[in-house]
Amino acid sequence: VKVEGRAWRTIWEEGAGVGVIDQTLLPHRLEVRHLASLEEVAQAIRAMVVRGAPLIGVTAAYGVALAMRADASDAVLARAVEVLGATRPTAVNLRWALEKMAAALGPVAVAARAEVALATARGLAEDDVEVCRRIGAHGAALLGTVPRRGEVLQVLTHCNAGWLGCVDWGTALAALYQWVDAGHAVHVWVDETRPRNQGASLTAWELGAHGVSHTVIADNVGGHLMQHGMVDVCLVGADRVTRRGDVANKVGTYLKALAAQDNGVPFWVAAPRSSVDARLLDGVKEIEIEQRDGRELSHVTGRLPDGTLATVEVLPPGARAANYGFDVTPARLVTGLITEDGLFPATESGLARLLS
Ligand code: MRU
Repeated sequence: VKVEGRAWRTIWEEGAGVGVIDQTLLPHRLEVRHLASLEEVAQAIRAMVVRGAPLIGVTAAYGVALAMRADASDAVLARAVEVLGATRPTAVNLRWALEKMAAALGPVAVAARAEVALATARGLAEDDVEVCRRIGAHGAALLGTVPRRGEVLQVLTHCNAGWLGCVDWGTALAALYQWVDAGHAVHVWVDETRPRNQGASLTAWELGAHGVSHTVIADNVGGHLMQHGMVDVCLVGADRVTRRGDVANKVGTYLKALAAQDNGVPFWVAAPRSSVDARLLDGVKEIEIEQRDGRELSHVTGRLPDGTLATVEVLPPGARAANYGFDVTPARLVTGLITEDGLFPATESGLARLLS
């Protein structure tokens, strides 16, 4: 994508490491960070300097490559996979990418590993771009079939399923970009997505940079909008999809899906095949939900009138905060999955076809 005329990806090779956009500073500052070691990559994923299921996977792959550059022994390979695998639990793309790296490097002689690791990580990054482009194409075609009440298609999205969560394009937002690029009109309701505000700070920034009409809403507004016929379709991403189509995504997604069903609004999930965890069936019972530091809930960072960033506390001192990062939307509430291979029902047979 382009931001102010310059082409960007979220991660790129740079010297002996990788460059990434520091997403903790958006929308206030577009700054890049250089990551030069396994430890720096792991910390960047933990601290959400990079985030979003596909991007976490690709970044972890580069983390393995950086570890191999320093020491390509079996012990370091195993340690890199373990350290990176423990950074964030819910997005299965992380495990998927680490398994790809381990499978590619295991049989390779130690002396050749650094080179193979870099080539494999680069391959995963390039594949992600193409996969997201294809998700966008299938998603844009789908948008053309969604019944709409007015001239302008009204879409509601949650969290950030755009290019910032991937290497380029995005998943749910890729569909919107391709729809808009084809000359169609859209307006996007952007859930702010507490506690970290990925909607307000990342999705709104991305959509603005691409010239897509949007309005940020507080997290609990979607139900009201749907009751009043102001949403034609909900479109979200996913961090993990079970083999029967249950979807883990940013916390709050489930409530939007319930409201969508109650109001007859289609609820589509855009995700690559790498987000499907075929080992799991029942997402509510089986998907590990990340719980993060309560400080993300108790404190909010924003821009002061002089442009400096400040973090303020919004809870009474000492109040306990429970910070669940994700929730699971059961397959029965999902209209369908938009993948790189087309549209699939969120059912066991639909997923089996996608994976076959
Ligand atoms: O905690 P995050 O910011 O990594 O969560 C991201 C999401 O929930 C996204 O909606 C999901 O990964 C889809 S990614 C394109």
